[in-house]
Amino acid sequence: TGYITYDPGFVNTGATASSITYIDGEQGVLRYRGYPIEQLAQHSTFIEVSYLLIYGELPTKQQLEEFANRINRHTLLHEDLKRFFDGFPRDAHPMPVLSSAVSALSTFYQDSLNPFDTESVELSTIRLMAKVPTIAAYAYKKSIGQPFLYPDNSLGLVENFLRMTFGLPAEPYELDPTMVKALDLLFLLHADHEQNCSTSTVRLVGSSEANLFASISAGIMALFGPLHGGANSAVLEMLERIKADGGDVDKFVSRVKNKEDGVRLMGFGHRVYKNYDPRAKIIKQTADEVLSKTGGGDELLDIAKRLEERALSDDYFIERKLYPNVDFYTGLIYRAMGFPTRFFTVLFALGRLPGWIAHWREMMSDPATKIGRPRQIYTGEKQRDYKPLSER
Ligand code: CMC
Repeated sequence: TGYITYDPGFVNTGATASSITYIDGEQGVLRYRGYPIEQLAQHSTFIEVSYLLIYGELPTKQQLEEFANRINRHTLLHEDLKRFFDGFPRDAHPMPVLSSAVSALSTFYQDSLNPFDTESVELSTIRLMAKVPTIAAYAYKKSIGQPFLYPDNSLGLVENFLRMTFGLPAEPYELDPTMVKALDLLFLLHADHEQNCSTSTVRLVGSSEANLFASISAGIMALFGPLHGGANSAVLEMLERIKADGGDVDKFVSRVKNKEDGVRLMGFGHRVYKNYDPRAKIIKQTADEVLSKTGGGDELLDIAKRLEERALSDDYFIERKLYPNVDFYTGLIYRAMGFPTRFFTVLFALGRLPGWIAHWREMMSDPATKIGRPRQIYTGEKQRDYKPLSER
């Protein structure tokens, strides 16, 4: 009491203890529950990693099947929730649509309101894992005026999501295994990243004992911003602008270095990584694979590579330890898969969902948890006396 630490952006404040994700920003190390991200990327799947993050251990074959089956049984949205989509303008950004629909889950499942009822928390966990992909696909369908497709529960989570997003009722949807694998990998790589802005938001909201749906809905809105999840869309917009400007990478880097109009090299820099983001390394390879298959976006990939090379050899970026982060290449892959730019951040949300859930659950079961309530350094007026309106 009496002494308050001033730490804007919580750069040096450990707000919680957590056993979910380990990051060594200097070395570029990322581990989920102790497992290196490189090993998980190579051998695991998004659904298995979701289980690992939420329950703490890799599942047995049976546990994994049960988890996947339970999720599959909850993929449908309540028909009344479906009508929510009619109320949004057609050109609405899909992130607030996603957040609103997740928020509305609290009204459909009022059994979720007690955050300490373990059975209902478990059910809310499964409902979120199952319904968020359906909501996301509907948000997309709404934006292009196509009919919603009901989930096909014979498919896995990623396959189902791709089919609901790109399929049409009138014709069978053929899943492309390269796309399925790439999207599964991208979700896996985004699945958790300890106390980032959206996860901290989920925790802060949840610390007031708000339920899981309410907390995740808030997390989705934190992810919306261009400095966080919105960066993947912003990278692509930046690459498009450079392309329209004749592909002049040097000119763009000069603008960034001169801080012209506050322009930043999107997809570069990270609060924690002062080295190459290990996720970016894995993604760069996937970008090559997917783009060589679809043939789309080659010119933008070329610009991205030249931009990266140019930045990595420039003193401005070297001095500040700015390296490509997870989002530098993801946008190119999403674009090659056929997702519109505005939808990229929704894909980030789908990937981050198990991480948010894991953190909320960890916090709720931690006896040390207290309501999040930061202090401030007051810089306003000293006490002064009220003046009647006639004297002002
Ligand atoms: N381009 C140009 N300069 C940069 C960049 C960048 N992308 N990032 C940081 N800097 C500079 C910044 O101007 C500052 O320089 P100076 O000391 O001369 O003022 C210095 O580097 C330190 O930056 P900071 O803003 O204090 O760093 P931060 O830890 O507060 O910000 C960040 C981290 C990720 C918000 C920032 O690097 C950034 O804005 N990057 C671009 C957006 C982006 O790619 N975000 C995705 C992050 S990864 C996925 C996620 O977590 O959502």
